[in-house]
Amino acid sequence: MQPITDVKELFRHQRQVRAFADRPVDDATLQEVLQAAVHGPSASNAQPWRFIVVRDAEVKAQLDALYEAAFAEQYGGTPPPRGTDRQPLSQVPVLVVACVRVRGRANIATGASVYPSVQNLMLAARAIGLASGITTLHRLKLAEVHELLGIPEGWESAAIVLVGWPDRAYGPNKRPPLERFVTYDRWTDPPPRG
Ligand SMILES: Cc1cc2nc3c(=O)[nH]c(=O)nc-3n(C[C@H](O)[C@H](O)[C@H](O)COP(=O)(O)O)c2cc1C
Repeated sequence: MQPITDVKELFRHQRQVRAFADRPVDDATLQEVLQAAVHGPSASNAQPWRFIVVRDAEVKAQLDALYEAAFAEQYGGTPPPRGTDRQPLSQVPVLVVACVRVRGRANIATGASVYPSVQNLMLAARAIGLASGITTLHRLKLAEVHELLGIPEGWESAAIVLVGWPDRAYGPNKRPPLERFVTYDRWTDPPPRG
């Protein structure tokens, strides 16, 4: 996919991608993408995040096995329809496990203090011409994933972000018109139809 510099186009072309070319992501490119993540906002600007970059084949294979077990548990014999091929996690060039520190009980600000960084990462990737995908399904096997990666008590793995050069060109994302989601000055019911 072509790099994108126009910000409006960037938002429109951010896609969930689950299949990647057999081409490594070099360190400098990866650093650029990770740099975008650490510019994300967080509650009290605490920056309570860690990003575990997984490129080791054995670790990816073990993550893949846990992910597939979670997938089977979630969907059983009726997996959701997919618009794109779902490559095994073991074949994805880079997996970034985004973690967030949890003090006391998690609340809405907990995830909200790492997911904007995840979005920064995915947008930065797309701007370069990389593709990305996100999953939280691994959380069905949280204890095993945390043990595998050595994630300590008090931290949560919030998402696994898949990063690589895409297997093909992906078009823009499709969303309903803005009117479907936005009201002015107050909430209105029923929701507006776009
Ligand atoms: C919290 C969260 C969890 C997600 N988990 C998965 C997942 O497990 N598998 C998957 O294929 N996509 C997952 N997605 C991606 C969504 O399915 C995707 O953003 C949506 O289908 C829109 O895709 P598009 O931007 O390519 O149109 C997840 C997205 C979010 C925000």
